[in-house]
Amino acid sequence: MAIVGLCCDHAGYELKEFVKTVLDARGLSYKDFGCFSSESCDYPDFAHQLGMAIEAGEVYPGIAICGTGNGISMTLNKHQSVRAALCWSEEIARLAREHNDANVLVMPGRFVANVLAKNLVETFLDTDFEGGRHQRRVGKIPLQK
Ligand code: RB5
Repeated sequence: MAIVGLCCDHAGYELKEFVKTVLDARGLSYKDFGCFSSESCDYPDFAHQLGMAIEAGEVYPGIAICGTGNGISMTLNKHQSVRAALCWSEEIARLAREHNDANVLVMPGRFVANVLAKNLVETFLDTDFEGGRHQRRVGKIPLQK
């Protein structure tokens, strides 16, 4: 696996730090695009950096966290090749990989405890895309020029 990309806002900062311990335990490298404290900030400032790094192939996959997960997902999904999936159950995380080939796991930091977050991260990292009919659908996601 390549370098995992991380980003968050202030509402996701603590969970992002916990996620690093999960990645460390698996011996995975990561690049943290911020934010770097619990001080109030704006999630697009960090989500766009991660989105650009995914598009450039610099990191894969991404893990992103804000309070609800919505703002950071909306921002990430502006990037053509980003498929950011908001996940709050293991089954959704598994399906996001199997069916959507999601390349960013998004978690709602204010609604996910550490134990669940660890399971979401591990499920996301350990699940392969099924391809087949899902490949056809995923291929239709990007806006056509
Ligand atoms: C920050 O208060 C909060 O709005 C943000 O973390 C996120 O939930 C936005 O979608």
